[in-house]
Amino acid sequence: MSNLKEILLDRNSCKSIWFMRQAGRYLPEFRKIRSENKDFIKLCLNSDLSSEITLQPIKRFDLDSAIIFSDILMIPYALGQNVTFTSGRGPKLSKFDIKTFLKKSGKDISQNLSPIYKAIEITRRKLNKKKSLISFVGAPWTLMIYMLELKNSHSSKAQVKINFKEEEIQIIIKKLIEFCCIHIKKQAESGCDVVQIFDSWASKIPEDKFDKYCYAPNREIVEFCQKEKIPSICFPKGIGNRYKTFNEVVKPNGINLDYDIDPLWAKNNLKDVVLQGGMSPKLLLDADEEMFAGATKYIQIFKDIPYVFNLGHGLLPETDPDKVKKLIEFYRKFK
Ligand code: CP3
Repeated sequence: MSNLKEILLDRNSCKSIWFMRQAGRYLPEFRKIRSENKDFIKLCLNSDLSSEITLQPIKRFDLDSAIIFSDILMIPYALGQNVTFTSGRGPKLSKFDIKTFLKKSGKDISQNLSPIYKAIEITRRKLNKKKSLISFVGAPWTLMIYMLELKNSHSSKAQVKINFKEEEIQIIIKKLIEFCCIHIKKQAESGCDVVQIFDSWASKIPEDKFDKYCYAPNREIVEFCQKEKIPSICFPKGIGNRYKTFNEVVKPNGINLDYDIDPLWAKNNLKDVVLQGGMSPKLLLDADEEMFAGATKYIQIFKDIPYVFNLGHGLLPETDPDKVKKLIEFYRKFK
């Protein structure tokens, strides 16, 4: 097993496994803490509990990397939007006000999110040195989807209606790039060695704006990470064969495949990058044989190139933790 940072920087093909949403509702030990902490944002800002939750899946499964327990919506929260979660309905943010937003500065991020940086310091101290600690941000478009309430439909194919002028959108994206970079740098200074950039709603970008809202902001953030020597993994979920242009234009160290991407296509088309993930999290709800067959496909196809085992989206809340254990054992024993 190898440190994720080494794999991303040296592109060696040592084995490594972690899961998106590895700390979450499928774990009884998480649900216990969550039931005692009804306010999710406050929980993310409780440094000791955030660190404890981050380490829960490491203790249980000895995964190779930990991902700090937080949320992409901590940036809108730090910028003054109220964020609440009602079960089954997803996050709800208070109304976006552009005038208030434009008055915000990097200090609002570094000060309001300081408990996250403290949680990272605590976790780094407790974590075995061989293991990576992953930080993350939401890409500007995906943050905007939540901040401006653009997501009018759950279908990833449905397009969004934007009630803002193009110039205003450009200004919002530019500022969000700046805020993401500050958050990434602070997380790295506190002890994270890799960053994952989630563009979970990239599939909703109007085609004629794809360059401006997807490639360009992700590229600027990745360039910043390169300058700061922070290895980056991008996850532009749902963009189909535009993964190829994304990789060529944005040039991250790693790229997470979603479950719609054919792994063979990825191997042939995504070059000079470490591939990660891809397997559908739904396979963990199936019988062992089907789950192992799904995993085998990815392991076989990527056996000669640098590949980090993970999924095509986060672990589902209904996943049985024993299935996760079996999958990790299967991967580690695979010859
Ligand atoms: O273990 C980890 O992966 C680290 C923690 C993490 C969370 N959210 C914790 C969380 C990470 C990396 C995220 C990222 C995130 N958050 C994304 C990008 C990845 C993706 O899923 O596409 C997005 C879009 C969000 C926004 C968000 N946060 C949503 C849509 C929800 C509600 C969905 C749900 O599962 O209820 C959240 C809440 C959230 N973030 C939970 C967790 C563990 C569930 C909170 C609960 O206990 O109710």
